[in-house]
Amino acid sequence: MSIGTACGKIILFGEHAVVYGRPALAVPLSQMRASATVEPGQAQGIVIRARDLGSEVWLQDATLDDALARITRLTLDTLEVNGDLEITVASEIPLASGFGSGAAISTAIVRGLADYFGRTLTADEISMLVYETEKLYHGTPSGIDNTVIAYEQAIHFVRRPNGEREITPFQVARPFTLLIANTGIASPTKITVGDVRRGWEQDPMRYEKIFYAVGGIVREAQSALANGENEQLGALMQRNQAELAAMGVSSPEIERLLDAGQLAGARGGKLSGGGRGGNVIFHVDEENAGTVQEAVLGAGAVSVIVTVIGKT
Ligand code: PMV
Repeated sequence: MSIGTACGKIILFGEHAVVYGRPALAVPLSQMRASATVEPGQAQGIVIRARDLGSEVWLQDATLDDALARITRLTLDTLEVNGDLEITVASEIPLASGFGSGAAISTAIVRGLADYFGRTLTADEISMLVYETEKLYHGTPSGIDNTVIAYEQAIHFVRRPNGEREITPFQVARPFTLLIANTGIASPTKITVGDVRRGWEQDPMRYEKIFYAVGGIVREAQSALANGENEQLGALMQRNQAELAAMGVSSPEIERLLDAGQLAGARGGKLSGGGRGGNVIFHVDEENAGTVQEAVLGAGAVSVIVTVIGKT
């Protein structure tokens, strides 16, 4: 039996603009994991069970848009192996919330299968396989989710318009406390990405200006993180949020959580991921995290995670 696991992730800065060639910063959430157990099958064929979803799919019956079947096929083809197998996936990562649950489950399957067949794949090979399934969820994904999850490191990510990727792992010089509040609204990334694309097609000048501004914010944020200037993060988050709102991907629920967190003393905050739901992130002082947590729960957040980013 082999077990592959993978972490969740959160985007700190640069979502959406990253689809248009601008940089973004994302970090792994190592405490939140998905796993895939691979065992010899009892019957002929390959069965994939997702206990949390109560689903069971035989590979030969799976539809083309089944992401778990797709990553299984791709991995077996890449490794040039086959067999009768039982794959069981489980995940602690909430679905459709901006934590990269889809990419994490796919990554866990690739790792579980590689281990089962005694093979090693590099982080980049895993990331490229998982990118293929991300297309099913996202339409035109930048690839940031599969990258940060496969590398399990803080990543500065750029995807050039020709599809070339620049992946630069970076160190967070001084750990900081991040509070992640879930709006409880599942908002498929495909929809907000599509809406931003339509906006950009209708008014490219306006959107390019927004993306340019986001690029600048990301550069400042990376320099702040690399130099331990964490006191700048809050204001940078506020600026990034204003640009996301201008893109049309904020929502009244997101704004309500941001206002509540701000009033309770958060240093700054923004939505994270596709927007219109999913998560809101705040930079908070450790001693203030409890107060901000209470405030955002009072303002409608369904769950809150407080985590330290950059702790080794
Ligand atoms: O919703 P998430 O956390 O999977 O992030 C989506 C990030 C976008 O920039 C909006 C889309 C992408 O493919 O990068």
